Amino acid sequence: MLFACISRPELLKNLEGVDGVELRLDLFPILDLKQIKQILDQYSCILTLRRASQSEGEREKKIIELLQLNPPFFDLEWDMRETFLIDVIAKYSKTKFILSYHNFEQTPDDLDGIYRAMVRFPTFGYKIAAMSLSTNDALRMLLLSKKHPNLSTICMGEKGEFARVLGPVFGNQIDYGAVNNQEKVAPGQLCLHDLLTIYRYRSLEKKTALYGLIGDPVDKSQGHIYHNDLFRDKKTNALYVKMGLCPEEISTFFPLAREIGFRGLSVTMPLKEAIVSHIDKPDRNVLGCKASNTLLLKEGCVFGTNTDGVGALDAIEKRGSVDGKKVVIIGAGGASRAIAFEAKKRGAEVWIVNRTKEKGRILAEDLECKFGFPSFYDILACCTPSNLEIDQKWILEGALVMDITYAPKETPFLLAAKAKGCEIIYGEEMFINQAKLQTKFWF
Ligand code: ATR
Repeated sequence: MLFACISRPELLKNLEGVDGVELRLDLFPILDLKQIKQILDQYSCILTLRRASQSEGEREKKIIELLQLNPPFFDLEWDMRETFLIDVIAKYSKTKFILSYHNFEQTPDDLDGIYRAMVRFPTFGYKIAAMSLSTNDALRMLLLSKKHPNLSTICMGEKGEFARVLGPVFGNQIDYGAVNNQEKVAPGQLCLHDLLTIYRYRSLEKKTALYGLIGDPVDKSQGHIYHNDLFRDKKTNALYVKMGLCPEEISTFFPLAREIGFRGLSVTMPLKEAIVSHIDKPDRNVLGCKASNTLLLKEGCVFGTNTDGVGALDAIEKRGSVDGKKVVIIGAGGASRAIAFEAKKRGAEVWIVNRTKEKGRILAEDLECKFGFPSFYDILACCTPSNLEIDQKWILEGALVMDITYAPKETPFLLAAKAKGCEIIYGEEMFINQAKLQTKFWF
């Protein structure tokens, strides 16, 4: 069930696609029982009165007044006075109680222990809301939801955002959404529009196949829009989410990802090289360039490919063959490796320049490229993640210039190339090419 979080009565309009509303009465400017009664007549409500400035005694009194309105659902914090909890749960039997645990600091290790302590109170449902300090924290929460049908796990914080989409796949009893991006009542909460349209919340179910992006940062990536739109258009019961993951977290991530059941993953910076040692079956592209941007998890095995090189070179070769041409690549990360490998394969002479010279030299040596900036070249490809301001003198008039960054579309690098009259290739074109190849690999 999906509930809209309401922090003031004016937000109760145009609520489509939800099963009900959660009235966060602790955030309401005034607590007017008459008004609440009217709202209860119109909407299926969860009433929630968190700790605020009032004493616990006053809060208990208010909760009893609210329960006398016979709300369909009531959220009670599990660490309230035990006898109070036992009394109200027994007395107001028409109301479905949700017993909730909150941890705004972290996701505790012993989640099972917390759940066991909560189920001592016989209620309709239980909710564990905890701050995800990592994607792995959020994955542990989802696995707990999967085990207990009467439990909802709510991941707080930026790292837990993706998990808020996955409630229906892991059997969350209740999920929550903000009415819009300005009205979020919890860190990491998604707005209803994104849940219902981008992520197709209503069509998600336990059988939905899971795909996702791992890397750091992932916020600018448009992969979730591209892949979820494609799943919708092709009527594929699948979902794609973005997960922030840094290199130190990869080893813990894989066992969890297997247990969760991810079928395929896109890999972005800075993981494209570090991920290779976790691939059981790397294909020729991965073996050749020692970097991967696409994983398939199947039959207990991790298969890896790299679609960056083909994606970029297909975009470049739409303008003419690279055979015999001089290609300069700025950067020495995973994307540079894949592009250099593919350009060499197609007959180009490849030069590498990089901020950290040693890393650039290693790449050049590995892939039999040249290191440094030649006095003349045909094609210049920028493979750095930032909106790099490049010295104008490096951009040659008449060259074909590509930036692999696609958000923003017009990078300072491409603007400088345009100003010099160069033909340019937007990063978007490579992004779409490589994403199409990822889909092919997964399916
Ligand atoms: P990806 O896997 O997408 O290629 P990456 O592995 O993080 O991403 O690699 C990014 C490349 O951009 C690196 O070569 C990096 O240079 P260093 O090797 O010196 O770290 C380069 N890069 C990142 N920010 C940069 C900046 N501000 N100026 C110049 N180069 C930069």
